[in-house]
Amino acid sequence: MATQPFTYSNLSLSDARNDLTTVIEKFKKHKFVEFNNSNPTDEERFSLMFDIGLLLGWKLDYDEPGVPQFTYEETHKFSCGLAKQENRNNQNDVVVAWHLEHPHTRFPQVGALWHMEHKSCAKEAGSTGFIDANVLFNLLSPDDQEFLEHCQIVKTSFFSITENNSIDLQKSVQFDGEDQFITVLGPDGKLVIPAYVKKPVVDHYLTGEKTLKISPKGQYTENEYVGHERLIWFDNRTPTKDEIRHYNRIAEFVYRNVSSNEEIKYFHYWDQGDAILVDVFSLIHCVRGGFNDGERLMKGIWAFPNTSHLSRDPSQQDAFKLFQVRI
Ligand SMILES: [Fe+2]
Repeated sequence: MATQPFTYSNLSLSDARNDLTTVIEKFKKHKFVEFNNSNPTDEERFSLMFDIGLLLGWKLDYDEPGVPQFTYEETHKFSCGLAKQENRNNQNDVVVAWHLEHPHTRFPQVGALWHMEHKSCAKEAGSTGFIDANVLFNLLSPDDQEFLEHCQIVKTSFFSITENNSIDLQKSVQFDGEDQFITVLGPDGKLVIPAYVKKPVVDHYLTGEKTLKISPKGQYTENEYVGHERLIWFDNRTPTKDEIRHYNRIAEFVYRNVSSNEEIKYFHYWDQGDAILVDVFSLIHCVRGGFNDGERLMKGIWAFPNTSHLSRDPSQQDAFKLFQVRI
């Protein structure tokens, strides 16, 4: 199945709220629902997300350091400026790289509502791209799919994990069978940054579908990995060099498909007044250019997994039990 949203045209979010069962059914099946020309008010956006959150176990605020507030406005001023400097800010150029949402945090966002409140650039400019991580997973060979089930990868936020500092990392971590918070020594052997050990494939919390959690950022080669993720455990032990190469080949395959396989992508070409309900647990996404600062204002609401009943250092597995809520 391709990456394809369900689309409503001219339906207000208030009317959508009156038929939440259908909206959530479409959301679970398609992973994203377009509300074209819905022109929501702030109140309508909050109310829709709040009500969906009650049914799906979402939480609309969060207190993890480094995670943005649950409401935000985005103009992509910085990314567009940088792209312009590098002469790659056209409507087919990716200016905000393909990414999973905050994969380096403990409990990344699982849902979002994005509303284009203002748009004055061309319809074709500033489109948002989507790739379903389950579609990506299904491109892998059965052998590679099986291989990934044995893997745990480490994700950091800010700098690349190289061969050198990964050695320090492996010495300093004790595997305890759960996703875990760790610290990584930097390239100078002194800088310490937070990171998490996570699985590269997880079951979707609503549908059980295999969801690939390999970040499409980074560069992978046979012998070296430069990026924010790295294989750290295989079958709960230090991986062999062959296993590291195998993982890197899979990550490279993912990276190449995200970069170049147009068949698995869907682009939303925004009109002012559009809103999209997005399963950011599943959908890798990007923003393309062709617009200037001030020509595009997106208002967003994030939804997080509801971990409020848990201790400060819960296992991710426990957190996702809450998602077993069904309507
Ligand atoms: Fe994003």
